[in-house]
Amino acid sequence: MRTLLGDLLAHRLSQAPAGALNKRLYDVLQAAIQEGAIATGSRLPASRDLAKELKVSRNTVLAAYEQLQSEGYLQTRTGSGTFVCEQLPEIVLENSEPLPAQGTSFHYVSLSRRGTRVLGRSGAGAYQWGAFMPGVPDVSHMPHDIWRKIQLRLSRRMPVEALSYSSHGGCLQLQQALADYLRVSRSLHCSYEQILITAGTHQALDLLAKMLCDPGDGAWIEEPGYWGFRNVLAVNGIELLPTPVDEQGMMLPDVAALSGVTRLPRLICVTPSHQYPLGAVMSLQRRQQLLALAKSSGSWVVEDDYDGEFRFGDSPIPALQGLSADAPVIYLGTFSKTLYPGLRLSYMVVPKPLAARMKMAYSELYRGGNGLVQLTLAEFIREGHYAAHVRRMRQLYSRRRAALVQVITNSLGSAFLAQQSNAGLHLILSLPEHIDDVALAAELEQNGVLTRPLSAYYLQGASRRGLLLGYACVEEQNMAATFEPVRKCLQRHLQPA
Ligand SMILES: Cc1ncc(COP(=O)(O)O)c(C=O)c1O
Repeated sequence: MRTLLGDLLAHRLSQAPAGALNKRLYDVLQAAIQEGAIATGSRLPASRDLAKELKVSRNTVLAAYEQLQSEGYLQTRTGSGTFVCEQLPEIVLENSEPLPAQGTSFHYVSLSRRGTRVLGRSGAGAYQWGAFMPGVPDVSHMPHDIWRKIQLRLSRRMPVEALSYSSHGGCLQLQQALADYLRVSRSLHCSYEQILITAGTHQALDLLAKMLCDPGDGAWIEEPGYWGFRNVLAVNGIELLPTPVDEQGMMLPDVAALSGVTRLPRLICVTPSHQYPLGAVMSLQRRQQLLALAKSSGSWVVEDDYDGEFRFGDSPIPALQGLSADAPVIYLGTFSKTLYPGLRLSYMVVPKPLAARMKMAYSELYRGGNGLVQLTLAEFIREGHYAAHVRRMRQLYSRRRAALVQVITNSLGSAFLAQQSNAGLHLILSLPEHIDDVALAAELEQNGVLTRPLSAYYLQGASRRGLLLGYACVEEQNMAATFEPVRKCLQRHLQPA
């Protein structure tokens, strides 16, 4: 089969000066990557296919690929293929100067201070699936057949409200289905009027930051905590106040002991059902303390229940929001973990008095849409497919987690699994303090294994070292082989210099 990339390379090879074929192919590939003709993050053809297309030997292609890999242009990912690296050796985002366009003084890449701040904190890679990418479900299990049938049926008679702009915070049917689901499965106090459908948790938090905070207000965020929260809040001018977590969740000051000078935050952002990334469950005593503190200080609690459905072994942890009927809590939920992140559907549950205002603000700022998808999801929930899918995935992830725990215990020892929670889509491989987990994760990424360094989740200096390993996408029978590059790489780092 002929491909556009094959045509481009064949043409450039025919123009290249004489010389060893693998060197010419290397030059042509390198130039195409540097110019952006082959985009960063894109997948290259398998060596066998490219060799066939260019009518050269496979060894010629392999030699060019290997050279580019050793120079940091390409990386291989186990079971997925060869990819152009996100960050090329000579193109480092932070160092890029605004480029004046030829013949004019207009700076096409001069960003606002806020824009620069967004990019300075950015961590999103082009490839976000596979071993051992944390926080990502096994998207290949999504029951598309059922989804498609529902969608086809509904699309034959779409109500006009679902085809026009939405000013009601999403489709009524989805709000109703969700309210019923959340009351039963997550013990929430809610009715459908309180539910606002959003396009991902980041968007929900952006709305909260804009509507409930002014620039300069403070937010307590968990330390360590989710980078996404930090970025969205900081870009909205909110001061980040990192607050340490222990095995009971966020550590809080005693309300009675608060002095007049204590700076109280506008938002208190927590992950009480499964602290991200360490995994603690917030104790009942801490939950009550948090609600009392929020009520007395006029702070909003933002409860991020990102993966509350996935607890293995013991029973689900009820949401904090459900603890008291008038709790000053805004509950955030997402379908990114239970269905798939590309769906971009999430929701917030807000106290009744705030709901209409937030819905109006949502349509002013973002305008709701995707009516057909929302109606399909409502029916998918109502017919019981959602609960069944979550149940199936919970069993699957439980087995995959157990397999990874077993592999780590056998190959490294249980000391590398300190303080684990039996929940979620990732676990923490605990590392000794002297290990540079950032360097280790970068090295693994070069070898096609995606992990995240635990120290990067801390905003302030002192941090625990470790790797977040997402097991959701790795089949049990492949766990040992997939973990092997991690073990090998770690053994090298553990050896005394
Ligand atoms: C702690 C935490 N909260 C929320 C989310 C979900 O974000 P979204 O709904 O935008 O996919 C994630 C995703 O990785 C997460 O790790």
